[in-house]
Amino acid sequence: MTKCVKIYKRYANNVLALLKKHGLLNREYKVSHDKEYVYIPIIQGSDDKVHIILKEFEYELIDCLLEKRRKHRDHKYIPSYDLLGDIVVVRENVLENISREQLINTLLDLHPHIKAIYIKEKTINEFRLPKLKLIWGVEVGSVIVKEYGLLFRIMLGKVYYNKRLSEEHRRIATISGDNEKIIDLFSGIGGFPIHIASMHKSFILANDLNPYAFVSIIDNILLNRKKLRGNIAVTKIDAKEFMNFPSLKEYFDRLIANLPHKSIEYMYVYDYLLRKNGILHLYIIGKSLEDVLERIGKYSDKWFLEKATRVLDYAPYTYIYRLDLVKR
Ligand SMILES: C[S@@+](CC[C@H](N)C(=O)[O-])C[C@H]1O[C@@H](n2cnc3c(N)ncnc32)[C@H](O)[C@@H]1O
Repeated sequence: MTKCVKIYKRYANNVLALLKKHGLLNREYKVSHDKEYVYIPIIQGSDDKVHIILKEFEYELIDCLLEKRRKHRDHKYIPSYDLLGDIVVVRENVLENISREQLINTLLDLHPHIKAIYIKEKTINEFRLPKLKLIWGVEVGSVIVKEYGLLFRIMLGKVYYNKRLSEEHRRIATISGDNEKIIDLFSGIGGFPIHIASMHKSFILANDLNPYAFVSIIDNILLNRKKLRGNIAVTKIDAKEFMNFPSLKEYFDRLIANLPHKSIEYMYVYDYLLRKNGILHLYIIGKSLEDVLERIGKYSDKWFLEKATRVLDYAPYTYIYRLDLVKR
């Protein structure tokens, strides 16, 4: 027989987090619940410790018969998910193939030390923010993720972040050079600028209109300051406003435009900011490369296509491409 903490549902997430934090959660068994209570299995012989850490809660320690957790190699279906520091984010459509309880159990088997599981319901407004719903664990304000040894703090729900872009950050940093002047117009939390500055003695202007992204870039520069060789300046303006700075006209050698839904609307801004023979990395969504090239075709008198790369799958039969365009 296993020992369980029997606790009112409304306190269950906090108690679970505390038991986990103190290593007292028995991960061999599943947590169960009825209408009113949650039953949380604890490690054998830990009654005294449990009493100490839960002294502020109204709970009972009871004998319980709980279902054993399956080892993850037994899971028939492992959904796709993002592990961000000590939380997991899963897209809502995953719940079409697996129950919420199975999802939670599978993820806890795979990652026993996580603090929370969130469902990403949708992406909202021009800042491309994820709408997150907590389905297990405790609310977490921010997490720190690592990309190629660099650290990034992400304020959950307040900034755009896509873990699958980390290789792309590195790729752009690799093809950039020393002593370049670079602008990243839609910087998010600073992925491209920080990767570039970690590899090159260049100057990068990182811009994002979202105030939380703006403070995140600064935060992330500070987190990585010992690893940065280049300099990063940070601004928080609408990309179109750069047209009002004559001193920046044709100033930059390289421009990153990672706003795939709308990047094409800013072609005149890129033209204004880049010098002749400067390079534009234009991220754009399309059904096929032909579709994307057709849309960009009307700019061919100003821009020469050097390379086109499929970067990410966006949705079924829809992709994000990167076009490397040289200003004529
Ligand atoms: C796709 S995300 C950028 C992701 C980022 N480059 C990365 O690698 O993680 C697009 C970003 O553009 C910002 N944004 C949207 N419209 C903008 C505008 N008009 N001017 C400046 N930034 C804008 C959003 O706040 C968001 O952070």
